[in-house]
Amino acid sequence: MASKKQFERLVIAAYRLPFKFTKTKKGYKAIQNSGGLVSAILALSENFKKGESLEDDNKIVWAGTADDMPQDFNVEKFENENFEIAPVVISPELNELFYGGFSNDLIWPLFHYFPSYCVYNEEYYKAFIEANELFCDELVKIIKPGDFIWIHDYQLMLVPEMLRKRVPDATIGFFLHIPFPSFEIFRLLPRKWRESIIHGLLGADIVGFHTHDYTQNFIKSVKRTTGFECHQNIIYTPNKLVKADAFPIGIDYQKFHDACTNKLVKSEKQKIKKNLAHFKLIFSVDRLDYSKGLLLKLQGFENFLEKYPEWHSKVVFNMVIVPSRDNIEKYKSMKNEIESTVGRINGKYSTFAWQPIIYQYKSLSFNALIALYDISDVGLITPLRDGMNLVAKEYVACQVVNKGVLILSEMAGAATELNEAIIINPVDKSEMSDAIKMALEMGDEEKQIRLKRMQKRVATYNVFTWAFDFFNQTYETKIQQNLMRVKFINKTISEEIKTKYDQSSHRIFFIDYDGTLVGFQKYPELATIDKNTLQIITQLADNPKNRVVIISGRDKNFLEKQFRHADVTLVAEHGYFLKLPNEDWISTVITDENWKESVLPILEEYVNRCNGTFIEEKTGSVAWHYRNADSDFAQLRLHELRDDLSEIIRHKTDFEILEGHKVLEIKSGKYDKGQAALSLMENETYDFVLGAGDDKTDEFLFKALPETAFTIRIGLSPTMAKYNISDIPLFLNLIDSFE
Ligand code: UDP
Ligand code: G6P
Repeated sequence: MASKKQFERLVIAAYRLPFKFTKTKKGYKAIQNSGGLVSAILALSENFKKGESLEDDNKIVWAGTADDMPQDFNVEKFENENFEIAPVVISPELNELFYGGFSNDLIWPLFHYFPSYCVYNEEYYKAFIEANELFCDELVKIIKPGDFIWIHDYQLMLVPEMLRKRVPDATIGFFLHIPFPSFEIFRLLPRKWRESIIHGLLGADIVGFHTHDYTQNFIKSVKRTTGFECHQNIIYTPNKLVKADAFPIGIDYQKFHDACTNKLVKSEKQKIKKNLAHFKLIFSVDRLDYSKGLLLKLQGFENFLEKYPEWHSKVVFNMVIVPSRDNIEKYKSMKNEIESTVGRINGKYSTFAWQPIIYQYKSLSFNALIALYDISDVGLITPLRDGMNLVAKEYVACQVVNKGVLILSEMAGAATELNEAIIINPVDKSEMSDAIKMALEMGDEEKQIRLKRMQKRVATYNVFTWAFDFFNQTYETKIQQNLMRVKFINKTISEEIKTKYDQSSHRIFFIDYDGTLVGFQKYPELATIDKNTLQIITQLADNPKNRVVIISGRDKNFLEKQFRHADVTLVAEHGYFLKLPNEDWISTVITDENWKESVLPILEEYVNRCNGTFIEEKTGSVAWHYRNADSDFAQLRLHELRDDLSEIIRHKTDFEILEGHKVLEIKSGKYDKGQAALSLMENETYDFVLGAGDDKTDEFLFKALPETAFTIRIGLSPTMAKYNISDIPLFLNLIDSFE
């Protein structure tokens, strides 16, 4: 369908379908499942003005599993205004290992910083792969060209890559609803598992997180796991660029705000007021989960009762826990502990006229939830870790008549947006109890000021902005990928190059060494040329119509050793030395080498300050290699080193800093690969010129070569070269095809 819309249909894949199904006389009744993910997508579906992004008349398709799906459930007969559903059938045995096991006994605790709760089991991992494949199979069945496939959350982290392999052109977004932990935590996964998760996620075009911190944690894990180049939020994988960014999930603000005045909510409020009219009310609503800090919350409240007896008989804490995963052992035992703590506190403080905690273990209807939000003076939202926490935002949206105060844990993703709340550390009982007192005693004016700011933010970056921002960014990423693809050497372009080659008779090739002919090794001296590559170069050079120049930053001895049997011209140290076939090396530059004395001590200091780095000393330059160091730490040191060196450079105008692939090189004298290439082309006319390289030092070459030259950068980085080619083997194939 011709359309100005970016995508035609939205296809969601998430572990659970958003409903539980029960059979009724008429067919099936669907009841909403709980959790932030379901709340957000349901909000989208109910009030989805598809705007510029999606076709208006298409329903959202949701692929997921369903508990209690009646045996004779028929998808065709399931009628819903907003959704079509695609059930993914996973056997109870597999589900136990995949969902109960890998997802909730390993990833959930690990990503929420509870490593001691993690269970490592190879069977879990196999089940994770198998279940993700079942999801992928279902998606392959239902998706159509033009769909936007949006995969959600930690249970499905392998699906993007699986789907990409089977439908290479699909538009795939992934969103993680839980925190992405720091690399120190992530690396607690066995290497194979963490590699498959990172590669799994990088199958998507875009990977979204709730906060900037989670995004940065992910990018760091990508770098440490794969070594892929990352610039800001773009990750350059060998096949495509992938964007990682923060998209803080929002709520349907207006729906919550307006609901406070609806009749059914009013009647729910009456019910609460009937018994609790004379008390100040505190509330919390959480799924049953250790990440929610439920016991600590109770202890904080107990501390408040202990420290501030003047509040006895004046305040009631409504604690709602929504049932979740309670067939998992940890959850079961936690529930028992919570219930006995509630009993103990109530036993200690209750009077005939007052019970400090009203505890409910159940799901609330929408109207009952809004009434609770609306009527409560304080929201006590204190998770130990939480990807976002929508309850906090919903509470803020519902402060219409009553003006409540939000107490929020600094460990919730929402804390970065709701910083006018009273922000606390949930493990600090005393801080929590003081915060409760402060909230209960806060003046109306201050409450208003805080709420207004938070409401403005929650209203502006709502669930629709969240989704459209995600769609738009994906669309932009696709455009970027296509621009890159245009530059990629595809079949047509390589044929065009070959035709030009065949038509020409006087050709010159400038070929860089590291990263172009040979892959990187831990130490430069280990990166020697292999037989096959040498043969390709020798054959190319043996053709009398060809002149092959190996143009490198390497020192002359190393280069000579690699190419001693090939009829090639060698340029070493970026142009400092030149060796024509069967001749001796000559130096093209005259410099005083004493300059190194001022630079070497500085580099040595940086070797000591950054573990894993080392110095390579050449005739005309010195290089600081940092490929074996922690990449983020090395980046930090790199900035400092540049600063230190700039001091010296200021006084020595012929100093130059070159930045290659994980190496910073300092040389004296104005020469580079570009100038070296031009001097070799002087006095000759070539009708075919090709230049190839992989890093910033090769950009001098690309810039200097004539407009008609074929310039190629190996890898995905942005470049002055005319073309990119994704890796070394593809480049070797190209030059091997020249006869
Ligand atoms: N919620 C629900 N049923 C209830 C109580 C709450 O569906 O009985 C909703 C609540 O409105 C919120 C979501 O569940 O939208 C909880 O999301 P949150 O991000 O706070 O936590 P998560 O459950 O995702 O960890
Ligand atoms: C969180 C997770 C969701 C999950 C929900 C409910 O919000 O991010 O992926 O669906 O909790 O958990 P459950 O295990 O009951 O699906």
